[in-house]
Amino acid sequence: MGDRLKTWTDKWEANDLGWQEKNVNPRLLQHVETLTQGKKPCQIYLPLCGKAPELKWFYDLGHNVVGVEGAEKGIREFFEENNLLFDVSTDESGIPCYKSKDGRMKIFKSDIFKIPIEKLGRIEAVWDRGSFVAIWKEDREEYVSHMSKLLSSGSKIFMEYIYYNEDLTEFRGAPRSVSTEELRKLFGAAFKVEDPLHVEDWANHERAKRWKVQDLWVMDTFLTRI
Ligand SMILES: C[S@@+](CC[C@H](N)C(=O)[O-])C[C@H]1O[C@@H](n2cnc3c(N)ncnc32)[C@H](O)[C@@H]1O
Repeated sequence: MGDRLKTWTDKWEANDLGWQEKNVNPRLLQHVETLTQGKKPCQIYLPLCGKAPELKWFYDLGHNVVGVEGAEKGIREFFEENNLLFDVSTDESGIPCYKSKDGRMKIFKSDIFKIPIEKLGRIEAVWDRGSFVAIWKEDREEYVSHMSKLLSSGSKIFMEYIYYNEDLTEFRGAPRSVSTEELRKLFGAAFKVEDPLHVEDWANHERAKRWKVQDLWVMDTFLTRI
């Protein structure tokens, strides 16, 4: 595991989890049926999952959940805080898999760019919050390639993303700014990127102040595999 994860594991060790939400994302609540396209159980993937509340929420809805997270502390806290018993197994790839007793919740401890995609199984839907915007910009094409290989035609990613004008701030993330236009440039060959479903102005939000950004927009959209 390279330097990619160092700043994140340091944050987990320091309990500096400024991104953590208590509740399930309200836009996901609104659009989950579109994401799963009525499949139940659906195989849902949460890349860079941390201990997001959506993991347990999807599980409680009866779906099969797969996460990838680079920080072991995050994975352990997820299972412990949700009172889910788990086993850890490591196969010849050396990547540990933390699995609930019923096997419906699996979290692999790995750098997302180092996990062989076959390990993730057949994925039918993706919830991406704080994932694409968390990776380095130089890794974005690799992320698109990961998702393109993983998803078959018609499957959807529901992504929450963040835009701020980088010319007006020294803040370089994470989260790293991305516009809808940039998303289309990056994902457009393999995904239909819809116009944002919601656009929220967060210029006065505590996070905008913390990051010293002049403007802050939180948006979400569907990306459908072509
Ligand atoms: C901004 S947090 C978002 C977590 C989660 N998606 C949520 O909504 O709460 C990003 C997470 O990704 C993990 N992470 C960052 N880079 C990673 C990488 N290359 N591979 C796997 N996990 C990574 C971090 O440890 C952190 O838990």
